[in-house]
Amino acid sequence: GSLKMEKEPMKVLVTGAAGMLAQPDSLFGQIGYAIAPMIARGIMLGPDQPVILHLLDIAPAAEALNGVKMELLDAAFPLLKEVHATTDVTEACKDVNIAIMLGGFPRKEGMERKDMMSKNVPIYKEQASALEEHAASDCKVLVVANPANTNALILKEFAPSIPKENITCLTRLDHNRALSQIAERLKVYVTDVKNVIIWGNHSSTQYPDANHAIVTTTNGERLVKELDIDDHWLKNEFINTVQQRGAAIIKARKASSALSAASAACDHMHDWVLGTPKGTWVSMGVYSDGSYGIPKDIIYSFPVKCEKGKWSIVNGLKIDEFSRAKMDVTAKDLIDEKEVAHSCLN
Ligand code: NAD
Ligand code: LMR
Repeated sequence: GSLKMEKEPMKVLVTGAAGMLAQPDSLFGQIGYAIAPMIARGIMLGPDQPVILHLLDIAPAAEALNGVKMELLDAAFPLLKEVHATTDVTEACKDVNIAIMLGGFPRKEGMERKDMMSKNVPIYKEQASALEEHAASDCKVLVVANPANTNALILKEFAPSIPKENITCLTRLDHNRALSQIAERLKVYVTDVKNVIIWGNHSSTQYPDANHAIVTTTNGERLVKELDIDDHWLKNEFINTVQQRGAAIIKARKASSALSAASAACDHMHDWVLGTPKGTWVSMGVYSDGSYGIPKDIIYSFPVKCEKGKWSIVNGLKIDEFSRAKMDVTAKDLIDEKEVAHSCLN
């Protein structure tokens, strides 16, 4: 045996891991199929962190789920210590340290996000209770399934003993889309751009904000808006492209984004657990504490920094009138969604 000390494996739950059932007529293998190998290769939790995967899906997808398990074993990933594939929510949630919630029914072409709520909200209510009872007490939860912010809010409401800071939703994909749009526009590498912000809902009301974004140039760090970049583009096309990117992918692929969503979910968890680099913030959907005048009791995407497994909202950024209006629109959208979600539960 090796004398090298190995870390204790972390247990990672992925719900909706079979990733095919809801869209049997479209591309096979969605987020679950893309993310499982990323987690098993250490992309989410680091190259020295062994993992145990708990894969959950519903009974009609059990055979496909088992196929995913077979492939994960066949890949002989060094960090992957065990794979549990199950259709039992209790078993799936047992002692998990990390929960990636993909399970649900994705939006199809022409479908509004609110149409999905009546299907997805009850799932999040049920899974909240299972996590509350069976997950590790410091379990970190990332909701990806749409409507992501509102599913996360429902999960929070029905899992009152999980610290509210531990329940988050994915807006990192939108954040990464914004970085890449700016990099393309400025003809720089995406790694040279940082500190965009996604405010609010992971829906078309989200506000991608480049007012504080920074690009590294040969002369050091500069604010994007002070560079030779068209202000009209930043206030219009940039915002629209990022807001509508999910819909554009659905139109092109006939299925919602999968590899980019999986990659963004890894980025979200990676930075939350291992920290954001100095001078850099990222966007995460988190429980609002009222920062920036955003109503409390919604899961809203803010700029956050992470250290030692905890996120904190970046405060004190100057907000102009243009931004204020857009931040409020997406807050209102979330309050409306919350009402619809509650009505789905009655
Ligand atoms: P998919 O249809 O390929 O996979 C969803 C899986 O969930 C299916 O295998 C289905 O059987 C399973 N499922 C359904 N009900 C379940 C339940 N009660 N418990 C466990 N599993 C259940 O979909 P996908 O393409 O992987 O997308 C997953 C979700 O992520 C969708 O809601 C999609 O809209 C959303 N999404 C979010 C973002 C984001 O940035 N937040 C990006 C892309 C997709
Ligand atoms: C995405 O952003 O790619 C997904 O959330 C697609 C969707 O359902 O809007």
